[in-house]
Amino acid sequence: MDKPALDERLKICASLVRESARLADVGTDHAYLPIRLLKSGKISYAVASDINEKPLKSGESNAKLYGVKNIEFRLGAGLNPIKAEDKITDIVIAGMGGEIISGIIGESPLTKDKRINLILQPMTRSEELIKFLYKNGFEIEKQKCVICKGKCYTVLSARFTENSPETDDVFPYLGKLDLNDEINRIFAQIQIRNLENKSKGNSSLLPIIEKIKKRLV
Ligand SMILES: C[S@@+](CC[C@H](N)C(=O)[O-])C[C@H]1O[C@@H](n2cnc3c(N)ncnc32)[C@H](O)[C@@H]1O
Repeated sequence: MDKPALDERLKICASLVRESARLADVGTDHAYLPIRLLKSGKISYAVASDINEKPLKSGESNAKLYGVKNIEFRLGAGLNPIKAEDKITDIVIAGMGGEIISGIIGESPLTKDKRINLILQPMTRSEELIKFLYKNGFEIEKQKCVICKGKCYTVLSARFTENSPETDDVFPYLGKLDLNDEINRIFAQIQIRNLENKSKGNSSLLPIIEKIKKRLV
């Protein structure tokens, strides 16, 4: 078997993993991401973990199917299955809600290692994740958006810096997105639509909507 195909979301995650990284893929499920990165030679070692046995088993059978070695499958919540001797450099947490991703980051001291590259792909509530990151000393390094199966997602890489740079009330919604990019603009429009729905019960959100609209002009 050659390499598994990655969907557009996971392609962006893969592009943000550093060359020769030692990867932890948290919530790996099918394990396509580490399998692909190992087969292409971009990385040399991965721990693929999942809180549930069934997805972990599907990842294990895919690794066998694609003949991939240097991958360890471990059952457990968040980063609990990762050991110091794994010498992890890059962590991917993809395909979960922004609040779950925040919880996983907040619960593990490992994420506070300034050398670790966190690659995060929230399916929902990316603004909660960005708020969490900036409240807790993490900074976004790169951020992009992608359309996958008809939905628009943001993917970001972040690192613990201990700093708390000042941000405004729009920042959680757009992060560091370059609004000259067409897909990023689509994401911003979706954020406006979500905010408009929420603002029906919360008029304090209206100024944020106006600020995002101005940035799109
Ligand atoms: C939708 S799948 C995403 C799979 C893959 N990461 C992707 O993006 O395509 C989410 C996976 O995360 C796992 N999961 C959910 N919460 C978790 C947690 N706290 N720790 C580890 N795995 C978790 C689920 O069991 C599931 O297999």
